Amino acid sequence: MNVLFASSEVWPLIKTGGLGDVAYSLPKALHGLGQDVKTILPAYRDVLKKCTDLKIIGWMDSPFGYHTPAIRLLEAHHQQFENPVWLIDCQALFDRPGTPYSNDDGQDWFDNAERFTQFSWAVAQIANGLVVENWKADVVHANDWQCGLIPAFLDTFHDRPKRIFTIHNLAFGGHFTLQQFKSLKLPDAWWSSEGVEFYGGFSMLKAGLMYSDAITTVSPTYAKEICTPAFGYGMDGILSSRNYKLTGILNGIDEKIWDPSSDSYLPYHYTKQAILPGKRNNKHALLSEHLDTVSEAMLNAPLFGMVTRLTEQKGVDIITQAIPVLLKQSDANFVLMGSGNAYFERVVQDLRDRYPQRVFCYIGYSEKMAHLVEAGSDIFLMPSRYEPCGLNQMYSLRYGTLPIVTNTGGLADTVIDASEQNIKNGQANGFMMNSSDTNALLSTMQRAVNLYEDKPTWLSLQKTAMDGDFSWQVSAEKYLALYQ
Ligand code: ADP
Ligand code: GLC
Repeated sequence: MNVLFASSEVWPLIKTGGLGDVAYSLPKALHGLGQDVKTILPAYRDVLKKCTDLKIIGWMDSPFGYHTPAIRLLEAHHQQFENPVWLIDCQALFDRPGTPYSNDDGQDWFDNAERFTQFSWAVAQIANGLVVENWKADVVHANDWQCGLIPAFLDTFHDRPKRIFTIHNLAFGGHFTLQQFKSLKLPDAWWSSEGVEFYGGFSMLKAGLMYSDAITTVSPTYAKEICTPAFGYGMDGILSSRNYKLTGILNGIDEKIWDPSSDSYLPYHYTKQAILPGKRNNKHALLSEHLDTVSEAMLNAPLFGMVTRLTEQKGVDIITQAIPVLLKQSDANFVLMGSGNAYFERVVQDLRDRYPQRVFCYIGYSEKMAHLVEAGSDIFLMPSRYEPCGLNQMYSLRYGTLPIVTNTGGLADTVIDASEQNIKNGQANGFMMNSSDTNALLSTMQRAVNLYEDKPTWLSLQKTAMDGDFSWQVSAEKYLALYQ
């Protein structure tokens, strides 16, 4: 099957969160199942810098031509990819520094509507076989609002590929105004409640839901949650009436890149046969990033880790409120890494300034540090208010770092609470809170700190966590069945 997999970010070329990881590892897994998968993304400046052997393989003249009508399709190479990736090259829209969505000051690009409309239009042309000689997609797989218009642009073609749209996070709806819709010169026929109109505005994510043949989201529990008002961001009605084409398929993780026995970012490797010495050495390395000397007491104390986008979704406010209390009640220490909301960045830094010997932070994102925090911490904090899937809890499980999570979305589908019963059954692999608030987090952290003292039980939980199968194998097969 020819599959065109479109995403606005793809690790290691450019990434702001889990979508980037998935857009790398799912196509790779599908390729492993014998499919011809082309990954396609915009030719942002940072992506062009990282790729080699760029070759122009097609031209398009956009009827919209925001800033410039000329678009080129590039084929590019990178050592992490077995196959070349495809890049939509439109310099006026993508050749700029910053993240895919915002400038260096964190403000959304003023022309995001034009950028992702143009990208989606170009992907639709390629998918439909109009750009590359002898290549047409059987399936086009569009991810999140940035790709929402792909299924819509394909709607007018009779012999079109099948259109799959995946929701990674319903909170980002790609919302624009009627005025913007008009100035984009999009087909008038799209402006209806059965099209892209959403409460008087224009939503690119809604386009993805309305015009696709199948909708997926990234965990079975989230697929149910988004059909309810509490999680639906106003789309719950649309989603529940399209339940017949909505499936939840749990994300996997790339088990080669996230493998404590061979991880190239780690100073020390370990396996589940010998967890403790490896984790202890990594803990030492992690703490040494922040302290001149690391005491024996510190190595013995529980270390909580967090790696996240600093947003409300992730419960960062809950974590920062709970930390001062737990510092008083226990000998636990904290390593927090993240970037995002400027207010949360300041709150995390203030905590570090108040407790310089016990709270360590890294504002920003480093792939190496992310791996080291996963390996060197004992407990991973992820008290998200909602979590479509979550990859970090799966990385933690694989590294024997027991996660504390909320009972929601993909967290509910991957973590089994350390209740007495689950411990006895040998199923427990982490800690589950039933609500996402400071009290629940505090009592769950205390529960974890207490269990940490029970070394044999802790070790058995670590082994169960590391035994879990979070590979893409099963999920990629589910996607393939859906494509077929
Ligand atoms: P989400 O996609 O909602 O951020 P996930 O748990 O699915 O959450 O994926 C997080 C991925 O993004 C991990 O690979 C993590 O290391 C990475 N990540 C976390 N914070 C950042 C950040 N500030 N910038 C870039 N990547 C990040
Ligand atoms: C989104 C979600 C996250 C999910 C990721 C990859 O960023 O917030 O839960 O794991 O997409 O699907």
